[in-house]
Amino acid sequence: TTAAIISQLAQVRVLPILVTDDVDQAIRCVTTLAENGLPAVEITLRTPNAMAVLREVVKACPTVTVGAGTILTPAQLDAVRNTGAAFGISPGITPVLAKAAAESGLPYFPGVGGASDLMLALEHGFNVVKLFPSDIVGSVKMAKALGGPFPDVKFCLTGGVTVEATPTLLQQSNVLCVGGSWMCPANLIGSNDWAAIGQLAAQAAAAGK
Ligand code: 3PG
Repeated sequence: TTAAIISQLAQVRVLPILVTDDVDQAIRCVTTLAENGLPAVEITLRTPNAMAVLREVVKACPTVTVGAGTILTPAQLDAVRNTGAAFGISPGITPVLAKAAAESGLPYFPGVGGASDLMLALEHGFNVVKLFPSDIVGSVKMAKALGGPFPDVKFCLTGGVTVEATPTLLQQSNVLCVGGSWMCPANLIGSNDWAAIGQLAAQAAAAGK
């Protein structure tokens, strides 16, 4: 459920974002992340084979909370549901997608860049949102400012987040968690360097404590 995912994110506070088109590498990576303290992960739809990657990771890693990112259309949202993914995330929000997501019942976190996006999200019942691209639109200062008119909203700051910045970002009371791809960079996935990814994951998990 949405509440269960939010409560897991509130505990872990760091959501790794994985971009890979290789099923075996995705499974290895997600397993490594989970073994090192990051039990929830977002897999983006930015690669041609992403739906198959999602489906296989969901199957292979039943104890991991596997979500799908970069959902841009209702058709993608439908396909994501069919993979068994636990939640969906988008970089932005549209009326069409927000309506489809609200009706789908899939735990879903739309992306916002400012107050108007957030008002659209709230119209559809979404009060946990991804602030994207966080470093460009104002990061923790933006989250703090939006907390004035929207005190019940919580943010996942994503885009340009670093492990160094994470503890400070997480101090802001309406920041639920941060998301980022820094703990699973393409070069380390490509070279099957799971030890290095494990170290980055453990460091990220520690930054969330
Ligand atoms: C995303 O999909 O949210 C971004 O790719 C994450 O941003 P990052 O790569 O700067 O961490």
